[in-house]
Amino acid sequence: MDFVRHLLVFLHLLGMGVLIGTFLLQLRARTGEVNKGWLHGAGLQLLTGILLMVLAPATGAHYNHVKLGVKLLVVVVIAVLAFAFIAKRDNPRWLTPTLGGLVVLNTGLAVFWT
Ligand code: HEM
Repeated sequence: MDFVRHLLVFLHLLGMGVLIGTFLLQLRARTGEVNKGWLHGAGLQLLTGILLMVLAPATGAHYNHVKLGVKLLVVVVIAVLAFAFIAKRDNPRWLTPTLGGLVVLNTGLAVFWT
């Protein structure tokens, strides 16, 4: 089961990479459509994070559930914002720094909140 947890953490970290990569692409684009990478990255984080959480009894991991609840909420906000503005075909100036800031917030929560 250790391998399963390591595989999920590996994919979870790649998901974070997707979100940071999307942030950089979006910064360069400045205008235009909201990149779908936000949805792919948030979806991967949601899937791998929830699997890590529900498989914890089997993998022997012990997590802070309040922290995971907050991280879950932050990812849902990222996904809802991205989805709403992709649907609207609108990309307001505040959106990219907000989404990027939320990704950095979740990374900080993951590392500093024990
Ligand atoms: C933007 C979204 C997210 C980012 C950037 C992120 C980032 C990270 C990072 C960097 C770690 C490694 C921390 C360390 O090993 O010290 C981690 C671990 C973890 N994350 Fe996330 N996370 C996100 C969303 C989520 C969500 C939505 C959940 C589930 C509700 C979740 C559950 C977990 C769990 C359970 C671990 C521990 C894995 C382990 O070492 O066994 N994450 N996350």
